[in-house]
Amino acid sequence: MTRITETPAWAALAEHQRAMATVHLRDLLADDPGRAERLTVEAGALFADYSKHRVTDETMRLLLDLAEAAGLRRMIDAMFAGERINLTEDRAVLHVALRAPADASIVVDGENVVPGVHAVKRRMAEFAERVRTGEWRGATGRPIRTVVNIGIGGSDLGPAMAYDALRAFSKRDMAFRFVSNVDGDDIAEALLDLDPAETLFIVASKTFTTIETITNATTAREWLRAGLADAFDADAADELGDGDAVARHFVAVSTNAAKVAEFGIDTANMFEFWDWVGGRYSYDSAIGLSLMVAIGGPAFDEMLQGFHAMDEHFRTARFERNLPVLMALLGVWYHNFFDAETLAILPYSQYLGRLSAYLQQLDMESNGKSVDRSGRRVDHATGPVVWGTPGTNGQHAYYQLIHQGTRLIPADFIGFLAPHHDTRHADGYRHHDLLMANFFAQTEALALGKTRDEVVAAGVAEHQIAHRVFEGNHPTTTILAAQLTPAVLGQLIACYEHKVFVQGVVWDVNSFDQWGVELGKSLAVRIEPELVAADEPPLDHDASTKALIRRYRAARPR
Ligand code: F6P
Repeated sequence: MTRITETPAWAALAEHQRAMATVHLRDLLADDPGRAERLTVEAGALFADYSKHRVTDETMRLLLDLAEAAGLRRMIDAMFAGERINLTEDRAVLHVALRAPADASIVVDGENVVPGVHAVKRRMAEFAERVRTGEWRGATGRPIRTVVNIGIGGSDLGPAMAYDALRAFSKRDMAFRFVSNVDGDDIAEALLDLDPAETLFIVASKTFTTIETITNATTAREWLRAGLADAFDADAADELGDGDAVARHFVAVSTNAAKVAEFGIDTANMFEFWDWVGGRYSYDSAIGLSLMVAIGGPAFDEMLQGFHAMDEHFRTARFERNLPVLMALLGVWYHNFFDAETLAILPYSQYLGRLSAYLQQLDMESNGKSVDRSGRRVDHATGPVVWGTPGTNGQHAYYQLIHQGTRLIPADFIGFLAPHHDTRHADGYRHHDLLMANFFAQTEALALGKTRDEVVAAGVAEHQIAHRVFEGNHPTTTILAAQLTPAVLGQLIACYEHKVFVQGVVWDVNSFDQWGVELGKSLAVRIEPELVAADEPPLDHDASTKALIRRYRAARPR
């Protein structure tokens, strides 16, 4: 099969890059005033300005040719039709079914999966309502005040990110915590001030075999049993069996009912999803149960409608007006033709503090691949390193490197027209105006920079001039929405999901497996008994690892 790098479309872009390498955004913006209107796109509630990219109409045309050459249309249709495009795991990839309306039909193995999706959603909504209203009682009869989600990777990052993002819509008299790390300090800190009688654990794991999650859930169960034993003594409440206590304080979200039962959670308290939902694409499935308890069923539904609106945009909009497609192609332009290695995600909203961590898994676990779909080593760069933190904090930390360092760092700036708290001073001065002034200033400064002439004209001392020049020409996408609502969050996340999909298609990698996490996992399983063995175990490792294990063993309490 022809590699993407062997297509005329790739060659045309490589040649075009040679011409574009020296073109400055300052000139592109000055010479073509219509550009700021032309190079924008609206997708649902999201407005995106990509005029501050090092592209011309010709660049966009060539990138769109590349998408055609990669067979993008056929792959989009294949995903939405439930074809088994996850080749190595022989699975369909149908996160879009999680937000399909009730009357849609998406068939997997001869069965329409949509009714099942809606049935689970209804059970989730009923359960969430019972917890939120206090009808669901703990073992001592008290209502739940804190929900602790135990999961890792896609079973943690999605709900944790979305809970933060939608905190303004959450039930404020309940607390929500997310425990993921197998580091015992994580769960110890999370449980430190909690009352077991008022705590509900949601154990979220697609496989229910993930060692971190099972270890944390076991610790939580022991903590609960010990704490409830004290509570029963103190309250002299009616005696409940251990099974009842676990049943009232533990629910599970998984595809693996057998393992859930084995752990001791009643499968009546299990919310299912399906193997055609990848972990990093799952927070709009039952994996989002903790989020649903926090924001309620109707708001969760609004979020799903947002996801679906972006799915429809992605499925139906012409590629030249298709936001995920355009974002993906711009990424390809920099990662493959300018050797840019990273992508900064810079949300100007504190509520999106965990967005880049979430997108790291979505993007890097999906497209961090070096063989193509047929198993050949690729001859081009694949997924970027994704990173970032909310503005304006980053401005006082690493923006220096973006502005004046030697690397090209494309960035997505995400902002909102209205905040949730319109925090003001007595004289009317608004935080949000200052936040957004920074938001607009940064993309302008990154694009235009400051020339030597401008620095000289500003009267800067001779010895500082070189240090105060900004080369500019740093590309950014600006994404704006009215306010961070559940529907807008759904659209934003679906947009990134589809962006990652498009890039996977262009790079011809399977974006839906993650074999790269296996080697370290299996080595850890081998090393753990060596750390705890009573007698000095024979060690079959490299010299460095052996020495480190011995050092740990020497310090370990017996
Ligand atoms: O990191 C590997 C991975 O399989 C992720 O893809 C997944 O989100 C995470 O582990 C957790 O898996 P599970 O939900 O099965 O516990």
